[in-house]
Amino acid sequence: MITFNLQNLSAIDSAHGLSKAEIESHKDKISNYLAKIDSRDQGFYTEIDNEETRARVIQCTNNVKDKFEYFVILGIGGSSLGAICLQQALGHLYKRNLFVLDNIDPEMLREIEDVIDLEKTLFLTITKSGNTPETLSQYFYFRKRIEDQGLNFEDHFLTITDSSDGLLTKIALETENVDEFEMPLNVGGRFSVLTSVGLIPAGLMGFDVEKLLHGAKKMRNQFLNPKFEENLPFQLATIQYLLEQKGKTMNVMIPYAQKLEKFADWYRQLLAESIGKAVNEKGETVNIGITPIKALGVTDQHSQAQLYNEGPNDKLFMFLSVLNHGPELDIPNPYPNEESVDFLKGVSFNKLLATEMQGTIQSLTQNNRPNITIEIPEINEETLGALFMLFEAATAFLGEFYEIDAFNQPGVELSKQLTRKMLSE
Ligand code: PA5
Repeated sequence: MITFNLQNLSAIDSAHGLSKAEIESHKDKISNYLAKIDSRDQGFYTEIDNEETRARVIQCTNNVKDKFEYFVILGIGGSSLGAICLQQALGHLYKRNLFVLDNIDPEMLREIEDVIDLEKTLFLTITKSGNTPETLSQYFYFRKRIEDQGLNFEDHFLTITDSSDGLLTKIALETENVDEFEMPLNVGGRFSVLTSVGLIPAGLMGFDVEKLLHGAKKMRNQFLNPKFEENLPFQLATIQYLLEQKGKTMNVMIPYAQKLEKFADWYRQLLAESIGKAVNEKGETVNIGITPIKALGVTDQHSQAQLYNEGPNDKLFMFLSVLNHGPELDIPNPYPNEESVDFLKGVSFNKLLATEMQGTIQSLTQNNRPNITIEIPEINEETLGALFMLFEAATAFLGEFYEIDAFNQPGVELSKQLTRKMLSE
């Protein structure tokens, strides 16, 4: 379903690329790394088998889907990026009934009411810790807005949080009527899109949750497969790691699909927060990380491509290619006698998009810029589920390559604590 094209890694100078032998040089580590990941007791690849969650998600979304016209997610970071990505990838690009407020900009909070009707809105408050100031303040604000309208807030809120001692857990317990979904304790925010955090929004938008999970499970099975040839997550992590050692300290993700633009946003958080760490597991200061960069084909050909081709050779380019963009959309030819546009004759947008991607790939290759292409047949629930799992699993392997804990985020926690301290002074 998902395939890799790695040929350009060996087509460029060895100082910047990777030979097949180099890519395979770490293959005997798979079992060891899998054992280490297993010992971390992380649920991102096991929770997808949780039948009870799946059934509850489907039941809950079926129950509330038709009772509301609008859905608004209150959350930030790992609690919101997955839903944003799902909405864009599987929904309509311009029409929507689900909005994700992943910020606290007052203009954003005010203007959302121009496009929703509070009476017909269900708010989903999603926060794993239950303590994140951005999410709590959004919740306090919209709870009051609902009550200001004379509405019963319990009818308009659903919470997704873990069972630790966060304020949201207390609120949910105290207010029996607010539906609550428990997030598994062993799944971190940025790894949680395939839990209720992403599945409830997906269900509310009418997407097929079973297919999302099915795609994810297929990729998870690859992740757990000790055979290098069949383990795409391990191959990806190996490439990222080896190229970082050759100075490619940035990874540019370039989907050639408008609907995957937010996927690159989702991945940006996953890679940055998981791998950007000060200390390794031996307690040594390492300050390692790979800087994720999001780009979009073809748009960024006219924005970033100059830098990518001729600037510092410090990036690995990951193209996300979609084979089927739906029926061919032909480019009409209103100027049949105009030779300068002859090259567009009989060409469809589908072909133009694919050809421009090949042009970009070839130019980077000619300039010795390492690039790989990750190909999916089309954007649907199954391929998206597989893509989420591919990158989550690769990130888990990457953590083992660097001997760090890919699942904590002490830097984020510190800024949360400092904000609280400053506001209390
Ligand atoms: O991945 C993470 O752990 C973070 O980015 C969190 O998702 C983010 O800080 C929001 O935290 P919470 O879900 O606890 O509100």
